[in-house]
Amino acid sequence: MNKRSWAEPFKIKMVEPLRMTTREERERAILDAGFNTFLLRSRDVYIDLLTDSGTSAMSDRQWAGMMMGDEAYAGSENYYHLEEVVQRYYGYKYLIPTHQGRGAEHLLSTLCIKPGDLVLGNMYFTTTKAHQELAGGRFVDVICDEAHDPNDPSPFKGNVDPSKLERAIDTAPPGRVAYLCLQMNVNMAGGQPVSLDNVRQVSDICRVRGVRVFLDATRAVENAYFIKLREPGQAHRSISEILLELCSLTDGCTNSAKKDCLVNIGGFLAVNDPDLAEQARNLVVVYEGLHTYGGLAGRDMEAMAIGIEESVQLDHVRARVGQVEYLGQKLIDAGIPIVRPIGGHGVFLDAARILPHIAREEFPAQALTAALYVDSGIRSMERGAVSAGRDPDTNENVFPSLELVRLTIPRRVYTQAHMDVTAESVIEVASRAKEVQGMRFVSEPKYLRFFQSRFEPMPARASADASTRRIRAIPSDAVR
Ligand code: F0G
Repeated sequence: MNKRSWAEPFKIKMVEPLRMTTREERERAILDAGFNTFLLRSRDVYIDLLTDSGTSAMSDRQWAGMMMGDEAYAGSENYYHLEEVVQRYYGYKYLIPTHQGRGAEHLLSTLCIKPGDLVLGNMYFTTTKAHQELAGGRFVDVICDEAHDPNDPSPFKGNVDPSKLERAIDTAPPGRVAYLCLQMNVNMAGGQPVSLDNVRQVSDICRVRGVRVFLDATRAVENAYFIKLREPGQAHRSISEILLELCSLTDGCTNSAKKDCLVNIGGFLAVNDPDLAEQARNLVVVYEGLHTYGGLAGRDMEAMAIGIEESVQLDHVRARVGQVEYLGQKLIDAGIPIVRPIGGHGVFLDAARILPHIAREEFPAQALTAALYVDSGIRSMERGAVSAGRDPDTNENVFPSLELVRLTIPRRVYTQAHMDVTAESVIEVASRAKEVQGMRFVSEPKYLRFFQSRFEPMPARASADASTRRIRAIPSDAVR
């Protein structure tokens, strides 16, 4: 039988109109935003692919659950429902809710990292590393080499390299490895999954050496789907079964529920060690709120509990990842360089290859996000040197091997037609790549600079072809 099309396993009950803008309006808006898509107003955005975080559409069941919020300060019913669901699907014993993922990262880093400790991870994530460094830790990357090559077709490019892991632990001063943070569907690598076999191996290596493993379970459900799809011997298992096994191989997790768990706000820390749980419950009251709400309303916890149940349904994950695949394949067919294999939560454009005339020091990915926005009103996110920040020792810019622009697909929000429009805009901008200019900082905050930095285009080079109509992201008279 020929391959049959898939369609979303839902129909649309309520719509949110989008505002269309003119090119002139967008040129003005990106100038006002300092060429940083994080600083755009969402009313000026047509298709918002900045992030899949907190941008999901909730189901009618989740909205109904919101009406069942028990807003008691202590001991909310919704907390106990969420606790039961987290235990059932993730398998950890103790739940500490937090306002979002970084709240959980803050608790874990504060409790488990001593100044000077090494913290291992399969590629950094921005907020995770920031909390590790604020706690005095030093991040050590133990991801496999394939992850750094956007063209490597390996199915599990999020895997830890076992020999890098062993070396990192065995050469560290005794007792100075705080833990391994094992991220699922590695975000900065392009949404690349980790295999179950790798998690088993890594967990063994760490257990023998007395190093704890904490999952960043933010996209573990979608990672479990890739395991079912790609890993020999896993096709017959349900996503829930695979997820439970992944978690059972670790000591706990941090989770940003704004992704897999289909809510607009929320997160949690979940652990098996009763002492650590007790310490976390004590710390959460300082930073987030009482341990039975952790910065969330009762209704938010109810929506999260229902969202987790919906998130592990095969039909849901297949359509979600299928939509990302649809956009990615369109771009591949058009010859656009993207990270391959296509990731779970977005399509990652290889900005360094799309804009080879822009030096890494002039932030090609940042420039590409601005040019895409001006072309069509599509908002994407820089995931390259601006996101990587500066080396804490030398204060020099870090230039990761991947200089990417992420087109991140919110869950259950956009249609196939939106994906078509997105692909057309990328193809248009790439066809006129030479007209895009590099960027330089105008202002640069100390922490997580990508969120709030401001930029301006580099001055035009003398060698530039004056006859070319430039699609500089702004009108030339507004540069200064
Ligand atoms: N871990 C991963 C892998 C993430 O992708 C994120 C957030 C977090 C932790 C932090 O969670 O935002 O709830 O505090 N990622 C968003 C993104 C911001 O756009 O990729 P948070």
